Amino acid sequence: MATSPSSPAASLTAEPSHGLAGRISVPGDKSISHRALIFGALAVGETRISGLLEGEDVLATAETMRRLGARVTRHEDGTWSVFGVGVGGLSEPAEPLDFGNSGTGARLVMGLVAGHPITATFIGDASLSRRPMGRVINPLTEMGAHFHAREGGRMPLTLTGARQPMPITYRSPVASAQVKSAILLAGLNTPGITTVIEATPTRDHTERMLKAFGAHIALETGKDGALAISLTGEPELTPCPIAVPGDPSSAAFPVVAALLTPGSEVVVEGITLNPHRAGLYTTLMEMGGDIEVMNQREEGGEPVADLRVRSSSLKGIDVPPERAASMIDEYPVLAIAAAFAEGATRMSGIHELRVKESDRIAATASGLRANGIKVHETEDSMTVEGRAGEVSGGGHVATHMDHRIAMSFLVMGLAAQKPVTVDDAAMIATSFPDFVRLMSGLGASFAKQAQ
Ligand code: S3P
Repeated sequence: MATSPSSPAASLTAEPSHGLAGRISVPGDKSISHRALIFGALAVGETRISGLLEGEDVLATAETMRRLGARVTRHEDGTWSVFGVGVGGLSEPAEPLDFGNSGTGARLVMGLVAGHPITATFIGDASLSRRPMGRVINPLTEMGAHFHAREGGRMPLTLTGARQPMPITYRSPVASAQVKSAILLAGLNTPGITTVIEATPTRDHTERMLKAFGAHIALETGKDGALAISLTGEPELTPCPIAVPGDPSSAAFPVVAALLTPGSEVVVEGITLNPHRAGLYTTLMEMGGDIEVMNQREEGGEPVADLRVRSSSLKGIDVPPERAASMIDEYPVLAIAAAFAEGATRMSGIHELRVKESDRIAATASGLRANGIKVHETEDSMTVEGRAGEVSGGGHVATHMDHRIAMSFLVMGLAAQKPVTVDDAAMIATSFPDFVRLMSGLGASFAKQAQ
């Protein structure tokens, strides 16, 4: 029952380019966009959202909120309104909920449905149907929800939410903001206090937004350094306007392209540098990247800044494993930067990359090898032997339905000696629909392959 991507696979080639220049804004943050729609659906009244990412993943969440009873509209000026139904007010959807390629949408909405006495079927594309859902099925089952999933806890699955949800205290075995958020979402319609304990802190957009909507969240660091996040159930959520900042995971592509492409100077405006999201930028600066953080401010409860980036000669480093959660989606493009650096870059503590939209360690390593780069991989690490700016390129890269693999290798093609082709650029629309247009505006050169 898996759905197919909304556009057919389309290969694309990035060609050696020079002197990327200009100022751009990248699309709204994907994590914050999903949450704005979901919390808007649970607040009573109108939540107005500006800067929402209009990528396929987030549009699937918008459609899901409609199917669960919220009214979701887009205005002519590009802002969105969600008229919510209140905590506990969701209705049973008549049709399966289709999340396309989006693990975040699927897992967060599983938490939402688990706290309501309704039944829903969750479907997605071939990539999403391969991803593990046990990590949310287990805690949500403890809270009283019932799941019928495919072998190995995979989608498609049918979920019946708890009639009388029970609060739990859950120590998450994986460092995952999706797991944390699913449990807190289920905890909203649960009497009492629901607690998630994180050994490694992950992105905190759910906690920030819940507070902004009036929920009571308490944070406590234990003797072992783990963070306990406790939510008091059954709050009345009050709508508040949300300005979605630019996505640091999307900004990563123009930033790395500007560092690697000779003669470049690019400003990326208005991205969130929430400390749980900024690990790539710290790493690139440690590698010698010329990145100036300008105009730091707070917008919509998130720290925001502009980045000025100039071409740089990078050096390989050891990326500490404790930084992984703050840059988990950025390793593929970091591996591209590492290929151009002098010396080896070792990335460890990254086993979670094996269960993203693709196995990102395998996909990145084979793409690098196809372009003349030596890589060593283990179950949870990857070491890239840098070529000090002399990357041959010329490879054909399999993207495995993964938008970030596609964009990473297109960035490589802009700075390599020969063009780099990816087999499918269609998936880029899940997170960064304007990628090719924005990058072309900076001077990047792309060519479609004749079919
Ligand atoms: C996300 C959390 C991360 C990240 C994903 C978005 C979120 O996943 O990779 O792109 O919005 O909560 P995990 O929770 O699996 O680490």
